[in-house]
Amino acid sequence: MDKFLLGTNWKMHKTEVEARDYTEKLVKLASDYDNFQFFIIPPYTDLRGVKETLAGASVWMGAQNMHWLSEGPYTGEISPEMLDEIGIDLIELGHSERRQYYNETDYSVNLKAKAANSHGFIALVCVGENIHEKEMDATKETLAKQLKIGLHEVFCEQLIVAYEPVWAIGENGIPAEPSYAGYVHTFIRDYLIELYGDKGKEIPILYGGSVNPDNAVELSNQPNVDGLFIGRSAWDIVKFRSIAKQITEK
Ligand code: PGA
Repeated sequence: MDKFLLGTNWKMHKTEVEARDYTEKLVKLASDYDNFQFFIIPPYTDLRGVKETLAGASVWMGAQNMHWLSEGPYTGEISPEMLDEIGIDLIELGHSERRQYYNETDYSVNLKAKAANSHGFIALVCVGENIHEKEMDATKETLAKQLKIGLHEVFCEQLIVAYEPVWAIGENGIPAEPSYAGYVHTFIRDYLIELYGDKGKEIPILYGGSVNPDNAVELSNQPNVDGLFIGRSAWDIVKFRSIAKQITEK
């Protein structure tokens, strides 16, 4: 991946009308800044409308979760086949909110990542330590376990890793110091090389967690930061544009 990645997970935000309106503006943003590979990850109910609005633009679209099986008695779940029919490019797996509130484990992330492989989706696997693990200097052990189990037998050609420290995410999050993000990204890079050999050098590693127009440039300058994965600051297209502009002009 030559282009720097800029993406956003909308979480449980935006109705279909809001989604179409935002996507129209994003298509314009992406054509103004074709130095980035943009991607958006709307809620399921917005996917068709977003796909239509993208109308062939180079922006990738993903979903926020999926089951690993094709069908079955799993009320409330969505299968890879269902998403394939809509036409997604990537699937986000293991976001800390899914791990915290919906019992996502490294093992279920792995089942889903392998299902993503067999449907041709890019698996965007999120990893990150919580505040206790950070304070007890167990960040590397936590990440190594999440990566070792989550990526077991997953193709590196269809993989993006997002480093999202849990303490950095959301309203109460504290953005990681850029130097800390760089240090952890370098650890992740080395670990991916351990898992995949030289091919591990090619896997994009994104940083996420309270990225905003004030810290985006410094974060993007860190070693092994191949993209930014943005929540709140990208849901407002004006802020998202400001982030793209600043990184471009740095
Ligand atoms: P945030 O969300 O940018 O709003 O902190 C990041 C994320 O959860 O991916």
